[in-house]
Amino acid sequence: MTRPTYTARPQKTSPIGLEWENAFQKASDFVSQLTLEEKVSLVSGTEGPCVGNIAPIPRLNFSGLCIQNGPLALEQGTYSSVFPAGVTIAATWDRNIAYQRGNMMAAEFRGKGSQVLLGPVAGPLGRSGLGGRNWEGFSPDPYLTGELFTETILGIQEGGVQACAKHYIGNEQETQRQPTQNEYGTTIESVSSNIDDRTLHELYLWPFQQAVRAGVAAVMCSYNRLNQTYGCQNSKTLNGLLKGELGFQGYVMSDWGATHSGAFAVNSGQDMDMPGTASFGPVLFHQNLTKSVNNGSVAMDRLDDMCRRVMTPYFHLNQDKDFPAIDPSNKELNALLFSSPDEYRYNYTYGPVANVDVRGNHGAAIRKQAAEGTVLLKNVNGALPLRSPKQIAVFGNDAGDFTNGMSVFYFNGVGNYEFGVLAAGGGSGSGLFSYIVSPLEAIKQRTGFRKETLFQYLLNNTAIIEEDSPYLAALLPSSPDVCLVFLKSWATEGEDRTTLHTDWEGDQVVEKIASQCSNTVVVMHSNGINALPWADHPNVTAILAAHFPGQEAGNSIADVLWGDVNPSGHLPYTIAKKQSDYSFAAITNSTSLQNTNDPTAWQSDFKEGTLIDYRHFDYYNQTVQYEFGYGLSYTTFSIEKDMNITSLHHGNISIFPPTSKVLPGGNPHLWEELYKVSATVENTGEVAGAAVPQLYLSLPQETMGGLSPVNILRGFEKVHLQPGESKEVTFALTRRDLSNWDVTKQQWAIPIGRMQVHVGFSSRDFRASASFTPI
Ligand code: BGC
Repeated sequence: MTRPTYTARPQKTSPIGLEWENAFQKASDFVSQLTLEEKVSLVSGTEGPCVGNIAPIPRLNFSGLCIQNGPLALEQGTYSSVFPAGVTIAATWDRNIAYQRGNMMAAEFRGKGSQVLLGPVAGPLGRSGLGGRNWEGFSPDPYLTGELFTETILGIQEGGVQACAKHYIGNEQETQRQPTQNEYGTTIESVSSNIDDRTLHELYLWPFQQAVRAGVAAVMCSYNRLNQTYGCQNSKTLNGLLKGELGFQGYVMSDWGATHSGAFAVNSGQDMDMPGTASFGPVLFHQNLTKSVNNGSVAMDRLDDMCRRVMTPYFHLNQDKDFPAIDPSNKELNALLFSSPDEYRYNYTYGPVANVDVRGNHGAAIRKQAAEGTVLLKNVNGALPLRSPKQIAVFGNDAGDFTNGMSVFYFNGVGNYEFGVLAAGGGSGSGLFSYIVSPLEAIKQRTGFRKETLFQYLLNNTAIIEEDSPYLAALLPSSPDVCLVFLKSWATEGEDRTTLHTDWEGDQVVEKIASQCSNTVVVMHSNGINALPWADHPNVTAILAAHFPGQEAGNSIADVLWGDVNPSGHLPYTIAKKQSDYSFAAITNSTSLQNTNDPTAWQSDFKEGTLIDYRHFDYYNQTVQYEFGYGLSYTTFSIEKDMNITSLHHGNISIFPPTSKVLPGGNPHLWEELYKVSATVENTGEVAGAAVPQLYLSLPQETMGGLSPVNILRGFEKVHLQPGESKEVTFALTRRDLSNWDVTKQQWAIPIGRMQVHVGFSSRDFRASASFTPI
């Protein structure tokens, strides 16, 4: 048995340092040459060829900023790739994949002349499984999200493109995300996410803190109100937390139409208004900002600060040198989508050729990324991997090709996508597919054209479930060797899900097929959490959560089904027993709210505090179907019972971090590694595969008080192992990892007492445990 030490990808340090200071100097010089009007234009969006535009200033060779969506693709880019969604990346539990996806997207954005990518997403975090945009982000666990959010940002920015971490903060539901007018003309304000200080720090702010440390260029303030004040004019969250406590040096950009005032928003910390045009409501920056500076309600210093914040990342990422010009195809697409005028007032520079193909060899990586983000939930009777089934049948309306075109953006709700694989969700976080590989196509390639295989399919859910279905009877005279059922669940920006069950009667489809086929394998293309009432059905022999895979959907799933890829995905959320188990964090919505006359009626109280997802189920000791962190493989792994905890500090540890100048990411002492935990993982099965050992900490409950979680994720690694091979995995625990937020002291504090460390393969499958007492 070999026993090399596994070197985890070294934690990247913050790239903010001397180079940032040089960029800041360049930005200051640049800003010192601007007129008042030019300064204002640098922070006020205009019409233009991109989804967000900052006008060029040709006399200073500044070609403007082309800002584009978004988190999984250059949203409406021609000849560009559609990558797997954030939730799929979360399910890989692989930092390298997160980095790689970010870096590849950056190459595509750069190639199209776009300096700013609107992503990644850590808000929503995923408080409620019904959140319409959860799939754009990663996981309801802040640690997992924090790690993958950071790697994505590093990948994007090391590719020379600015990342915009969004949506800051508490943007946990789509319903009433923007104000509405009721029938009497009263403005009903956006929902207010009411989050206490501790929960804010330990859950929702946690990933943003890392984003700031990683040097993220921009942060997008959100539509919702946070503790009664709009996200984009909330001095506490913008000036106080983001720029003060976390030391954010970049710029705060509004979400589209999330600006609610001029001088007030600016003085509260908003730096850029998007899109800044009348298409999204009143224009609050532009001339109004000029007036505010002239009448003293906004100080010139503040405007200079805004401009320096916008220009520093631009110089830091060398976007002033050899940045490709905008693809002319953007102009037409944007005019079509957002009815911007054809002739723009500003002098944008376009590249010589339209429709630049920026996809490179990304398709192969996308195929792999999505396969790695596929979670094997059940596998009995040796159902998977498939060997050489002679008779194979495919069912479900998710298996086939697109039928409504290539842009999920246009799908308006669940009703519009009955037939076709669901490879991404809807809204601005979606993408324009340049091709799609459907599961049916990929499976056909593998089996269907072979003479000896009987390959059959029925993709119409209605036809499957109808009583005494003649279609089904014709198809299933004898039970096939395997029945592959493809289900989907839609989610989109702008609305929350109404159910956690799969769409188009997915449950009935499974029941019907399983009642006649003893080897029923279910695959779900889904935005995240699904209720699976049929999970324990004896004829359902395997279940795969394939999430939103992007353009290679069919190949990615076929690779897993046939075992070319050994599944190593793990759930980045919990699948509970039933939908009502999640009622602790419901979407705020009711008929009385919809008919309200009270402008501030929409209140969402985050009463559960930090107890979302597995933290809730563990605290209340509730049985779940598949727990957070769970995922099977075609091989088996073990973890040695003995593990090592090494202290990395000298002398006593203080409860609070030593006082220090704030750097990006906050007090730098928070990132000091205080302990190292090493455990040994072995592949005990017959085939090569990747394990995901996970480290959970149990902080001393007695000192923390309140609704404190039982266990929290504080480490994970993806470890590739040959059969019989074992590796030692080392997890570093930083001061922040060991702390909770002390609301009285307004500091991260290490709780006094004994801490338990568990290393295992899920939040409920611990294989090695030990303890230590820092204080
Ligand atoms: C979304 C943002 C997006 C922006 C630009 C907004 O509606 O919330 O995520 O980046 O539009 O399309």
